Amino acid sequence: MPDVDKSKTGGEERKDFSVGVRHETPGFFLKGSAHLPWGMKNRLSRIFNPKTGRTLMLAFDHGYMMGPTSGLERMDLSIPPLLDYVDCLMCSRGGLRTCIPPEVNKPVVMRCSTGATVLKDLSNEVIGVTAEDAVAINASALTTQVCIGAPYEKETLSNLAYCINEGNRLGLPTLGVTAVGKEMVRDARYLGLACRVIAELGAHFVKTYYCEKGFDTVVAGTPVPVVIAGGKKLPEAEALKMAYNAIRQGAAGVDMGRNIFCADDPVAMAQAVRAVVHENASAKKAYDLYLSLQKRKKQ
Ligand code: R5P
Repeated sequence: MPDVDKSKTGGEERKDFSVGVRHETPGFFLKGSAHLPWGMKNRLSRIFNPKTGRTLMLAFDHGYMMGPTSGLERMDLSIPPLLDYVDCLMCSRGGLRTCIPPEVNKPVVMRCSTGATVLKDLSNEVIGVTAEDAVAINASALTTQVCIGAPYEKETLSNLAYCINEGNRLGLPTLGVTAVGKEMVRDARYLGLACRVIAELGAHFVKTYYCEKGFDTVVAGTPVPVVIAGGKKLPEAEALKMAYNAIRQGAAGVDMGRNIFCADDPVAMAQAVRAVVHENASAKKAYDLYLSLQKRKKQ
């Protein structure tokens, strides 16, 4: 790494992310994707709406390590009503096959990792779903998580490398997820490092958490689209504000789970998040929409 003269930067490494300068994407609408093969571009165009360049992904893969977590006790009941309002599903192989009707023609981002649960070290994962099986189930992308700085960092990077290498062979893009352990600080420095490592290994899009300060530098320093995870359940107005701030600072969408399926009214929340992602709705406008949809349902 080049030496940095910290005396010239007030003790801080000086970085120039040129935030606000567009990363050009000649010939294809998605950042960093212009030189991908046709099949990859076609699958990415199902996940990301070519008109807005963004996606609303519904994440409901939590059971693969958390069991029947709140909101997902019965995926066959809680997920289908949301399907009309989201662009893409992020889920496990078993969750998809058992709870989602095959007539649903939404692109699927398939969770491929396993090996750890909330009872143990979450970074200690292996790959459990082959790329061929993901193709057999008609997935549009593969995904696994990377735990930068965790005890099994190398193994999680190796899992990501598997997905990227096998996906490249079959024309399947890979979503790299930045999983953040309890001991890590979710700041722009850490998230920027994790996202960049994932993108440089070759992931085609990255999922990370939003951070209040410097999220735009996380996006600028990641040469592929970045989508945010929702994280723990927040009051609906706050979750919409987080989504709005992330989009305003360059996120290419959200991959939200608990803040949709645990909302007081999940169907209204999916539509409100959709307005932020695809219609540039402000957080207030989206929350007003949420309240009006919720009210209409109660009448
Ligand atoms: C973790 O179990 C998964 O990767 C989730 O898909 C991810 O955390 C997104 O869901 P949420 O919005 O609930 O954080």
